[in-house]
Amino acid sequence: MKLDLPRYTERFGATSLHGVQRVYELDSGFDDGRSMSETLTRVGNDQIIDIERRMAIVIPIKAERLRLLEGVLSGIPHDCLTIIISNSPRQPVDRYKLEKDALLQFNRFVGRDALILHQRDPGLSEAVKETGYTSILGPDNVIRDGKAEGMVIGMLLAKMAGKEYVGFIDADNYVPGAVNEYVKIFASGIAMSKTPYTMIRVSWIFKPKMSETGLYFSKWGRVSELTNQHLNSLISYYTGFETEVMRTGNSGEHCMSIKLAELLTFSSGYSIEPYEIVNVLEEFGGIIPTVNQDAMDKGVEVLQVETRNPHFHEDKGDDHLKEMMVASLGSIYHSKICPPKLREKILESLRGRSMLDEGQPEPPAPVRIEPFRGIDMQQFAKILSKATTYTQ
Ligand code: GDP
Ligand code: CO
Repeated sequence: MKLDLPRYTERFGATSLHGVQRVYELDSGFDDGRSMSETLTRVGNDQIIDIERRMAIVIPIKAERLRLLEGVLSGIPHDCLTIIISNSPRQPVDRYKLEKDALLQFNRFVGRDALILHQRDPGLSEAVKETGYTSILGPDNVIRDGKAEGMVIGMLLAKMAGKEYVGFIDADNYVPGAVNEYVKIFASGIAMSKTPYTMIRVSWIFKPKMSETGLYFSKWGRVSELTNQHLNSLISYYTGFETEVMRTGNSGEHCMSIKLAELLTFSSGYSIEPYEIVNVLEEFGGIIPTVNQDAMDKGVEVLQVETRNPHFHEDKGDDHLKEMMVASLGSIYHSKICPPKLREKILESLRGRSMLDEGQPEPPAPVRIEPFRGIDMQQFAKILSKATTYTQ
């Protein structure tokens, strides 16, 4: 892959937030010895495959169409470990079983490593409870519903499998070629990172929508525009300079080194993606003290890379949009580093769009999921092996 070097960077304590980088060639071929210009970089195919071998791709899924899942599976490079975490209904039709059958059939043909697990499997809940990871459990002692919860379980499985990197790809993507590009971007971003504590987020070039006159290639989704605006305000408040650096606040397609992932506190449901950025600033922004001195010494990087493929996924309607917006802005609003002025602006944004119910003074505080660094993985693996839906 051939891509830009970051053109500018916001530095915030030990964190470097890089501006969006563009892809020039999806496949940059063999190294032919020709020198590159000083502003482009080439990540060779050998290097990409070497990183893919050390990477797990987590697919969170809840009641998506099977055809879409099959397409996504076909787009994931062979050498990655695929991990599906499902929260699909099991009655009246056992949709988890359909997903599992589709995965096993796919694996039989391509001979690939993959894991699948149901988020609400009692054996899984037992494994997290016994290892003391209770912040992911609901009042019924079962893992809570929610996309973030599924992703965190996926990260635990990636760590358990000894992977160094974990990437996330939604199951509702219509374009397998786009999925393939996301993983190449993850690997290239990792290759370009200068620290073991790194995150790569995908910025979609277009998110096409149907309109009366045909396809309209819009640049931003309604939620992401607002999330980015407020994340940028948060950064500007501390640096004193207005910025537009953050473009991927809601990006479901992103990847992290396990070394970084296991230090982060996550925020429940659909607020996980923006809160990852907020939490990186909380932990490594130098505003409040941290226990993670090694990451402070080595630095934390966030790279953002713009795709070549447009992003086509399922349209989930206005209620979903509202849920995402309130959760995303709520995760910024309730951060301990959110200044009162920004809180006011967030409230204005939500009220102006009638996103808060009558008599609701503020967005609800998203539930937090603690870092998973301290979990005894051997014990976790041992208990998990008895979970009935766990299939590899
Ligand atoms: P959007 O694309 O950000 O608007 O959100 P989606 O509704 O498409 O969700 C993103 C991905 O998360 C999809 O693959 C969903 O099927 C999946 N997902 C949503 N809720 C849950 C959940 O509770 N658990 C799991 N494991 N996956 C979920
Ligand atoms: Co989607």
